[in-house]
Amino acid sequence: MVGQQRLEHTKLRVSNLDDAVSFYTDVMGMAEIERSEETVYLGCGLDENFDLAVTEGGTGVEHFAVRVDNSDEIDRYERLLTEEGIETKRVGGEEPNQVEGIRFEIPMGVDVELVLVDDMEYKHSNVARVPGRTSVCPLDIDHITLGSLDPRENVTFLDTVLDFNVSEVLLKEDGSWRGAFTRWGMHHHDVAVLGRPDGTDYNLRHIAWTMSSIDHMKDFIDTLSQAGYQLEVSIHRHHAGNNLAAYFWEPGGNRFEICAEMATLDPNTPTNYCEPGEGFTAWGGVNPPESYRKDGS
Ligand SMILES: [Fe+2]
Ligand SMILES: [Fe+2]
Repeated sequence: MVGQQRLEHTKLRVSNLDDAVSFYTDVMGMAEIERSEETVYLGCGLDENFDLAVTEGGTGVEHFAVRVDNSDEIDRYERLLTEEGIETKRVGGEEPNQVEGIRFEIPMGVDVELVLVDDMEYKHSNVARVPGRTSVCPLDIDHITLGSLDPRENVTFLDTVLDFNVSEVLLKEDGSWRGAFTRWGMHHHDVAVLGRPDGTDYNLRHIAWTMSSIDHMKDFIDTLSQAGYQLEVSIHRHHAGNNLAAYFWEPGGNRFEICAEMATLDPNTPTNYCEPGEGFTAWGGVNPPESYRKDGS
């Protein structure tokens, strides 16, 4: 279980498939890799695997996948999950470049896959490998941030059953968890789970995309703006993960983040417990709107 980023892909629901796919290809510069009757598969194009699948109907996450190194890992987690009483299903070949995997549900009801994929090169070179990608296109899918009424229950599952490491826990005044950031490899967070307000009914806070630098973020944001899209939260530096980030809503109805400079942690780095009261950004000067605190998809 080494390596850095381990989020392999996610499948999202979008309110209008044609509008969303046009945005991913024409504005974000992603490459369409494959299309079935109901689902379109897109990639950042530096390897031949897809990073994002979308299907029409609603918003939010349908499933996300974490990449494993070999078949033995799949067999081992299949056994561990079965021992925990979690139902698993074998997958293989239904999605592009998927060799084999298992699918199961985490406590909040989102499906997760552990998958072995065909193209294992995982290059972060800015040399176009798949036709269609443009230079503003993100390098890769970076992380997923889920919205749950019980972040601790879900993070404990990721930690104890699936061997994720908990990089950081955000504490509330009463000592309960506002959320937590977890990693499968060395990337500060592949999967984060944040609390969502009572009375809301969403499972996704955002999907984040890896950018090479703040200049790459700037070029991407210029392209967004020229296409008529505005940021929800401008460029800032997060406390958790120390990464640069900016947020916007894509036309399919989900929040996207672009990010760069995410911290890498040694596998043995202990969990950092973050007391309440730390500002939104290390830099100050950026105050997220109310929508950022309460909305998801
Ligand atoms: Fe998948
Ligand atoms: Fe994020």
